[in-house]
Amino acid sequence: MSGRIPAQFIDELLARIDIVEVIEQRVPLRKAGRDWSARCPFHDERSPSFTVSPAKQFYHCFGCGAHGSAIGFLMNYDRMEFPDAVEELAARVGLKVPYEGGGARPVEDSTDLYTLLDAAAKFYQRELAKSDKARAYFESRGLDAETISRFGLGYAPDQWDALKTALGTSAQRMALLEKSGLVKSGERGKYEYFRNRVMFPIADRRGRTIAFGGRILEKTEDSGPKYLNSPETTLFHKGQQLFALWQVRQAHAKIPRLIVVEGYMDVIALFQHGVTQAVATLGTATTRDHAELLFRNCADVYFCFDGDRAGRGAAWKAVESVLPRMRDGRQAFFLFLPEGEDPDSLVRSEGQGGFEERLKSATPLSEFFFANLSSDVNLASLDGKARLAERARPLLTQIPDGAFRDLMLAELDRRANVTLRIEAPVSDTPRKPTRPQERSLVRIAVALLLQNPGFAAAIEPPHTFSALRLPGIALLVEMIALCRERREISTAAIVDLYAEREEGRALQKLAVMEFPGGEDAWRAEFFDALKQLDRQTMQQRVEDLMKKQADSSITAVEKDELRNLLPLKGAPSANPPPQR
Ligand code: UTP
Ligand code: MN
Repeated sequence: MSGRIPAQFIDELLARIDIVEVIEQRVPLRKAGRDWSARCPFHDERSPSFTVSPAKQFYHCFGCGAHGSAIGFLMNYDRMEFPDAVEELAARVGLKVPYEGGGARPVEDSTDLYTLLDAAAKFYQRELAKSDKARAYFESRGLDAETISRFGLGYAPDQWDALKTALGTSAQRMALLEKSGLVKSGERGKYEYFRNRVMFPIADRRGRTIAFGGRILEKTEDSGPKYLNSPETTLFHKGQQLFALWQVRQAHAKIPRLIVVEGYMDVIALFQHGVTQAVATLGTATTRDHAELLFRNCADVYFCFDGDRAGRGAAWKAVESVLPRMRDGRQAFFLFLPEGEDPDSLVRSEGQGGFEERLKSATPLSEFFFANLSSDVNLASLDGKARLAERARPLLTQIPDGAFRDLMLAELDRRANVTLRIEAPVSDTPRKPTRPQERSLVRIAVALLLQNPGFAAAIEPPHTFSALRLPGIALLVEMIALCRERREISTAAIVDLYAEREEGRALQKLAVMEFPGGEDAWRAEFFDALKQLDRQTMQQRVEDLMKKQADSSITAVEKDELRNLLPLKGAPSANPPPQR
């Protein structure tokens, strides 16, 4: 994809920025030893568990698990998009952001497109003023003038070329209209996508119109689908947008909660009746991007669905998207509506108070999760319990590390009584000791490298220890290569890189593991750990070769190798087993 910001630039930028300064401007920090601390701005807490490390250029909250670089902080705290956060930080240190493929920021190329979409929205609004039947439609749905103007509602007239006539017909204009998704090419030439529909402009996070939804006024033979959304364009990606998030943010300095409903009209009716925190997905299921966007704006999210089968199915989709985003401090609830009702009809009959009463009795994620997974299993039977555990476990492991994850796993234990380990086949191979895992050599090496990426410069490949069969070795080798290639990479950037991978959670913990002493001590410990890993690799080789000797599959060359290794190492059985 062209227009990306090169990773090297990000490294350089993070190396020049002082994260303490960036955060200090927004959250008052107090010095605490080497680091700075504060009450976490991302969740409510009494005592400070939020720390900022100038050495690692990294922030981390021990309470809710929020963490990241200065870029990540701006994205989460100021709710900026990635390129905006990079631009802001670059401006602080006087760097110009390069974009791959050269040239300036690609968004600037869209200026014309934004202008055009804005002009289209205004055109539809003027048409609404002119159309009796469109105004009558909104009236029949109970919308007042203030609401209509707040949401910029409009009307697309029943013509094939209204926009074209209004917004100019030059070749350049037509190309732009097509790019905006408002004009399509068909057998009969170019025609307009929205005709004879009331129009709902969709705003991005800065309030710029990027797409539209359009609803028919009445059903006729050729009226087409009830709702039509703009097709995907360079500016509009359904799976990443929420209708009315802009309006909600305008209405609240701090959003108290977000309510996700299914339809445009639900959002708008709720708003008019005083429930001003509703957003809608755009005719799609809730995606992980949606979930992240929701939580980035508010820690409490309510999902509102029909009480029928389809509604429950949609709710489960939302669960699957939300679980990987459930950092501590975030909460999700599910509200199922009575048959035949939607938020629009409910708020009109029960008012703001009635609807908010319903929200209070919404089902917490944990409860819906277990109820849904157990709905067709008999928990009185061992089989049923096993099945519940089997279904739940892969989902629960997607929850970020933290108290919520622990609670869900404990709840699974309670419900499924999963002491299934008992049922594991008794094997005759001795169990490896699992305890002193916490600070295994490999973990220490990975943690020290993660916290001091510069150490990698002094390690020349090939690495003897890369042959060691221990968990984490592959990661260590990969990280060394990464740090050697990107000399200025920071701790935070590495954690970000791995965020979506399996190792992400572990790295997040290792990034804040405490080591005594200062950089010299850490360097010594790191290189000592590598030396010990090398030694273990030799022991492993000796053991492999001795096994071969025992079953006589050893070659002459290998015999020589063994002979050379043995005097150095002594008999392997006399040594303690490799430290894990
Ligand atoms: P619904 O059909 O549930 O209707 O669509 P609604 O929101 O209650 O609509 P009203 O009250 O009749 O006006 C819910 C949402 O699903 C999407 C739209 O985003 C709509 O708001 N949808 C629905 C479509 O994209 N296309 C359709 O044909 C229907
Ligand atoms: Mn409806």
